[in-house]
Amino acid sequence: MECFEIKGQHKLKGMVSISGAKNAAVAIIPAAIAAEGVSVIENLPSIEDVTCLMRSLENLGAKCTLSDETTLIIDARKVNSCMAVDESVRKIRASYYLMGALLGRFGHAEVALPGGCNFGERPIDQHLKGFRMMGARIDASDDRVIKLDVNGRLHGANIYLDVASVGATINIMIAAVRAKGKTVIENAAKEPHIVDTANFLNMLGANIKGAGTDVIRIQGVDRLHGGEYTIIPDQIEAGTYMICGAITGGDITVKNLIPKHMDSLSAKLEEMGCRIIEGDDYIRVISDGRLYPTNIKTMVYPGFPTDLQPQITALLSIADGRSRVIENVWETRYQYIEELRKFGVNVEVTGREAVIVGTKELVGARVSATDLRAGAAMVIAALAAKGTSIISNVRFIDRGYANIEEKLRSLGAEIRRIKKDEMNENIISVSLPDGVPVSAAGRKV
Ligand code: EPU
Repeated sequence: MECFEIKGQHKLKGMVSISGAKNAAVAIIPAAIAAEGVSVIENLPSIEDVTCLMRSLENLGAKCTLSDETTLIIDARKVNSCMAVDESVRKIRASYYLMGALLGRFGHAEVALPGGCNFGERPIDQHLKGFRMMGARIDASDDRVIKLDVNGRLHGANIYLDVASVGATINIMIAAVRAKGKTVIENAAKEPHIVDTANFLNMLGANIKGAGTDVIRIQGVDRLHGGEYTIIPDQIEAGTYMICGAITGGDITVKNLIPKHMDSLSAKLEEMGCRIIEGDDYIRVISDGRLYPTNIKTMVYPGFPTDLQPQITALLSIADGRSRVIENVWETRYQYIEELRKFGVNVEVTGREAVIVGTKELVGARVSATDLRAGAAMVIAALAAKGTSIISNVRFIDRGYANIEEKLRSLGAEIRRIKKDEMNENIISVSLPDGVPVSAAGRKV
């Protein structure tokens, strides 16, 4: 239970470098065990989810060595178990990729049901439909573990996804690389980390074509070998820092990103009055602090990403007027709104729609990160707010943002981590702008 203490209203300035993409890393690490080889994966983000997956792979018999903070060597030759049911598996959502990897290579997998951020129902029926169409028998009678089996090898199939699911696209692709024959995934998702996972698997000897379009064709191969691969930069981390620059009236350069991945956000920030300057691998965001309202609809890539929805909602809270956000991907991704309101954000949610009426100034608050991106939204609001904010549950933020406090500090933010042993009510007595103490619920008393 660590917290962040943030003293707001510093204009962020300078340069911040983006780490490797979380959602690519959490697919590529499990995908590595589809091969009987040694994979060297570079540009990994230093985040909890990566550590967790390393532990899961080790429990299956793989040898995982971090040669430095961002390079992981996975020796998958000695994988000797198909049972991924330990605590590290349960902790994170992406453990479901172990199903595709184990099933494709060994014809058998027992995988604990995925955990991860809880913002409503997160079904995996499309993953299972794909495996079934490739010949797998699935036993989901135990509500904690899914068992998958095939006689011999999976076979190719034509699979039409009812929803363009990122997870199902990647999981089916990982399983299909070792299947007998050709698999076609239609209505595939197109996110950058899908292309990255396909490129990684192709580097191991797979034959995947069309990743990044809505039809992916995979010709199964008998064996995969090892190799070296560098993960792409994190689109969502980059977007989060761009929004941090915009909300503080700052001038920041977000480096080591792929500008094309940021198009939907850059366009919105420009509409809101920010100046955006793009280079080959950077985007500079300049804001004079005056922001116009706008409307956002989250969509699958290349649309506006749902994983930036809480952060942009925080930004819209100080725009000069009324904005609308429509969440099209996750039915209930507004669970953080109650917390955001504690900063003085004026927002009403009805179903998938949030209406935000901009306010002149946010005030420091004591809030809790309810999930990863919600936590990022709290940080963004706190950076803009007058006074001090305390954000608890930062373990959620640590799941997806490498070295966030160092990165923000380097841009001029006043942020510190309050460690477990420092945590007591004295520290939590935050002083709000007018010196009024804050109650346990984060409101002025
Ligand atoms: N869906 C189904 N059936 C399925 C799978 C998905 O109905 O079998 C529905 C979901 O309920 C949802 C929609 O399809 O409404 C999209 O879900 P998707 O499968 O694309 O999401 P995911 O693979 O579980 C990944 C990211 C999420 C991100 C979504 C959407 C990982 C590990 N997670 O989740 O990232 O929100 O894609 O882009 O890649 C995050 O990073 O904070 C995060 C939550």
